[in-house]
Amino acid sequence: MKIAIFGDIHGNIEALMAAYAEAVTRGVDRIYHLGDLGGYAPFVNEVIDFLIEHGIEGVQGNYDETVANNREHCGCKYEDPFQAEMAALGFEWTKNHASQKSKDYMKNLPFEIRISFEGKKVIIFHASPRKNNLYWYEDRTEKFFREMSEKVDADVFIYGHTHRPYRKDLDGKVFINAGSVGKPKDGDTRSCFTLVEITGGYVKSEFVRVAYDVEKTASAIIESGLPSCFAEKLRMGT
Ligand SMILES: [Fe+2]
Repeated sequence: MKIAIFGDIHGNIEALMAAYAEAVTRGVDRIYHLGDLGGYAPFVNEVIDFLIEHGIEGVQGNYDETVANNREHCGCKYEDPFQAEMAALGFEWTKNHASQKSKDYMKNLPFEIRISFEGKKVIIFHASPRKNNLYWYEDRTEKFFREMSEKVDADVFIYGHTHRPYRKDLDGKVFINAGSVGKPKDGDTRSCFTLVEITGGYVKSEFVRVAYDVEKTASAIIESGLPSCFAEKLRMGT
């Protein structure tokens, strides 16, 4: 069984369509998304329609939870006051433009999905097993990885939220941050998704990068009235 993981799409339908086409080419059996479906690019409703239409199940991100419940704050972390102000504008824009159907979809997403194949228990969540807005970066200590995973009955942990892909193997467990389909922050502007295949007890993973029309999404961001710095960041992969 081979699965594809689509992390943090953030309203970028162009990136999602490109990632989906590549996943189909790679012959995946199933695709899961990691939530954070809106914000930063304008196509939150189109993204959700696409996921429903293509039978892609997934989990709830902090952005989904806060948009769906009309909260004051998206629960994101900001690098500086300017970014905080821009993110707040983007959050308001998304709350105002997400349809009721989209909000209902986001509201009803589960916190986690558990699957099991080839004798391995896999858990899929947005950011961490208990909190949807914790940034689980690769350079966290081994103690942190152990604390996050010790009370969770799983062999393979799959999550996103940081938009920076990595894999770490520790104590027989596999930790995979699947990166971001719609808003990569690792300096590579291409869309990122992750393939996971378990054969003979071995967990094989691959970060797939897919070129897409970044400029089309960047132009749509500017036309939509979202902060133009989101277009700049997309062009730089930051
Ligand atoms: Fe995100």
